[in-house]
Amino acid sequence: MPVREPLDVLDAIQSTRAQRYLKPDAIPEPILWEILDAAVRGPTGGNKQGWAWIVIRDSEIKREIGRVYEERLKSIYGYERVSDEALGSGRITRGGVQVGEVGLDARNRRGVIHLADHLAEVPVIVAPVIENAAAGEDTRQAGAHLGSSIYGAVQNLMLAARAFEIGSVFTWYLDETSGFNGLLGMPESARVMCLIPLGYLAQGSFSQPRRRPLSEVVHWDGWGKQVARPDA
Ligand SMILES: Cc1cc2nc3c(=O)[nH]c(=O)nc-3n(C[C@H](O)[C@H](O)[C@H](O)COP(=O)(O)O)c2cc1C
Repeated sequence: MPVREPLDVLDAIQSTRAQRYLKPDAIPEPILWEILDAAVRGPTGGNKQGWAWIVIRDSEIKREIGRVYEERLKSIYGYERVSDEALGSGRITRGGVQVGEVGLDARNRRGVIHLADHLAEVPVIVAPVIENAAAGEDTRQAGAHLGSSIYGAVQNLMLAARAFEIGSVFTWYLDETSGFNGLLGMPESARVMCLIPLGYLAQGSFSQPRRRPLSEVVHWDGWGKQVARPDA
């Protein structure tokens, strides 16, 4: 087991946020094994574990993934089209600009663009894959079912990376036309479910993610029923 400082599970959760400035420095392989071993402890429906974890370190493959990712992210999300001045203290959401805790502020937005420009330089990209995704019906329920059987494990992976002081970020600009099945030599029925870049932090720190307050999002015994938090 690689040496590391112990980290309480709640402290890890409270300091795991999107890290988009990552150093190119290699991650030792024993650490990657530990991180993957934590990932596969996650849940799957019926414990079927119909997943695969592709660990990408090859420069050519990372370059091609980076090219597709950058092209899609910039064309779909349009982060570049809103200037920091126009954004002010607002945050960008997919539907436009708004003020508050929801969406991406100017700093996050710069981070998103930085990552898109530098994805190929991160030392490792993990592609979590569902092996038989194309076999089922393509319904909303089927989609949710597929995601449910891998995203818990993905969060494990990101928390385990945090335990080794390695930053990560959930990214998702891909679909069947991204060309990743061919690039990664995957069977036709398999789907890359997201891409997780991993690397030591080049900027920023492991700090608490900003979120809407619990009082807004927690309902007790039914919709709209609020309970005051004793220590709030
Ligand atoms: C479905 C999904 C797709 C995402 N896609 C991207 C992405 O393509 N690029 C990116 O930089 N971050 C992406 N993110 C990361 C989110 O922007 C991030 O989780 C959110 O802003 C909260 O960040 P924080 O934990 O640092 O507060 C995605 C997250 C999710 C859940």
